[in-house]
Amino acid sequence: MASPYGNHQILVASNRGPVSYDVREDGELQAKRGGGGLVSGLSAIGPDRGALWVCSALGDGDREAVARGVGEDGVRMLDIDAEVHADAYNGIANSVLWFVHHMLYQTPLEPVFDKEFRRQWASYEEYNRAFARALADEAAEGAVAVVQDYHLTLVPGMLRQLRPDLRIGHFSHTPWAPVDYFRLLPDDIAEQVLRGMLGADRLGFLTQRWASAFTACAQELVGGLGDTRVGVHGLGADADFLRRRSHEPDVAARMVTLREQIGEGRKAIVRVDRTELSKNIVRGMLAYRQLLEDQPSWREQVVHVAFAYPSRQDLAVYRDYTAEVQRVADEINSAYGTPGWTPVLLHVDDDFARSLAAYRLADVALVNPIRDGMNLVAKEVPVVSDEGCVLVLSREAGAYEELGEDAIVVNPYDVVGTAGALHEALVMGAGERAERTKRLAAAATALPPAQWFLEQLRELEG
Ligand code: F6P
Repeated sequence: MASPYGNHQILVASNRGPVSYDVREDGELQAKRGGGGLVSGLSAIGPDRGALWVCSALGDGDREAVARGVGEDGVRMLDIDAEVHADAYNGIANSVLWFVHHMLYQTPLEPVFDKEFRRQWASYEEYNRAFARALADEAAEGAVAVVQDYHLTLVPGMLRQLRPDLRIGHFSHTPWAPVDYFRLLPDDIAEQVLRGMLGADRLGFLTQRWASAFTACAQELVGGLGDTRVGVHGLGADADFLRRRSHEPDVAARMVTLREQIGEGRKAIVRVDRTELSKNIVRGMLAYRQLLEDQPSWREQVVHVAFAYPSRQDLAVYRDYTAEVQRVADEINSAYGTPGWTPVLLHVDDDFARSLAAYRLADVALVNPIRDGMNLVAKEVPVVSDEGCVLVLSREAGAYEELGEDAIVVNPYDVVGTAGALHEALVMGAGERAERTKRLAAAATALPPAQWFLEQLRELEG
């Protein structure tokens, strides 16, 4: 008798998939492939294991691809109603759950959990249900399904109901909020999120700190973890890929241009981020300004190279933040710049080759997030650096757990302290800098993406 189930043994579910589509002027669809840990992880298991990646159509191009039946083997894109998706992704995932886990609210005035929030929450449930149903349809009997991130917290519980035979994992790429902050959520919603996650057999986090925070929330609000196991998998940098890619000719060409822009003989303090509220780009610039004030001898001798790529521009608060980053950069340049020296070099267009070029030539990397699940930039720079780079690292980044010892560690809110750390980094001798970089690179590559993914599968299959 034919099995009533699907035929995929391994399933991954995430909001953003490995491919997206644009409609070109001639009406043809153009596919763009993304990178990241999951892409390398899935490629490591090989095509014969019947893996399927379930993701959401995000823009008009993706929706058109679904409508035309265009797609890639091993990827199923869900065409969830655009308004439902916007409510779930922009309204709940990015404006509420992201804010809670990164502690981003300005609490005197927000959050406000009103009727509009409840309406959007219903969309979040519907969007999670669409994923759970798709996974339930596609999974072979006893298959493993690994659900990703805060967008899909309700999926494990929903999927468990539909398919008790599956082995279900959930992995959080973000921090998890401390109990008191998590309790900003309305009680029933907080409980629903936790119970949704606890539908999984196993929950993965990037650091022990986030795993412990989840466990504390579960203990405090729903009486514990029940049968769900919790594990830590600290995603590392993909050394082979980065070393190869950063020596391709387009990167070399970008290095020449960047070096010209920075100026021969000057030091470079580099940061590369999405323009993301949690990345703390503005305080990073304020710290740099403080450095120029406190140590005027650095004027004309150093450039702050800041790449801040567009992110989540549907949200007004992200657009405002992007404008503020630009405003502060302009302000520093007009206050301190000279005809031959632009103190802040800000680029806001995404260019991966140029990021790698900046990694290679950076003297100092500034990674100062308010709060961050891991922060892979902190792990990538030491791997790619040509001559060694000092890492100034926030103690609130997940990467701090593995890299803290060889970085110069900062409190991300302390602008004066960060200015001092930048100075210390700039004056560090070449020998120490190279030694530290070597140790940072080793720690950063301890768990490459493929192993990171396989490790989780083994735990679930085991
Ligand atoms: O976990 C954080 C995350 O969802 C990552 O997976 C991703 O790199 C980042 O945020 C970007 O988010 P978005 O898909 O909203 O652009």
